[in-house]
Amino acid sequence: MNLTVATLHGRLRGEMRWRASLIAVLALVVAGCGQNGNDAASRGKQVYLTECIACHNPDPARDGVLGPAIKGASRELLEAKVLRGAYPPGYTPKRATALMPPIPKLAPKIPDLAAFLR
Ligand code: HEC
Repeated sequence: MNLTVATLHGRLRGEMRWRASLIAVLALVVAGCGQNGNDAASRGKQVYLTECIACHNPDPARDGVLGPAIKGASRELLEAKVLRGAYPPGYTPKRATALMPPIPKLAPKIPDLAAFLR
């Protein structure tokens, strides 16, 4: 009788440990996913602070010394304007000027920039 209870107890403890590690693994996976989203945005922020704030405001929601506010700029707009100095079809530019030089080397950074500006 005592032996049975002890065995059962041992099993239960084993199962609880197993569950605890499953929960720990799940927590890591969930945390990891959140991390990825943040990483794209924070990589984008680094690019923005390096390449854009000479003309745009460090706060992308506000106008800068030369460039307009670009918070919410879509990936299509960023691709067109940053890489080619153009605009997506049908898009009405915020400014009629064409002062901003295209920066084609940033092609691999567009998704990060879009994540930051979202
Ligand atoms: C040399 C100054 C300069 C730099 C550097 C610059 N921009 Fe611009 N940007 C401008 C100006 C000025 C405009 C307004 C249109 C024009 O004159 O080209 C503009 C317009 C834009 C637009 C279009 C806004 C709209 O909705 O009409 C986007 C998007 C944009 N910039 C993104 C960026 C990003 C992202 C970077 C950095 C990778 C960047 N710009 C770097 C000056 C600059």
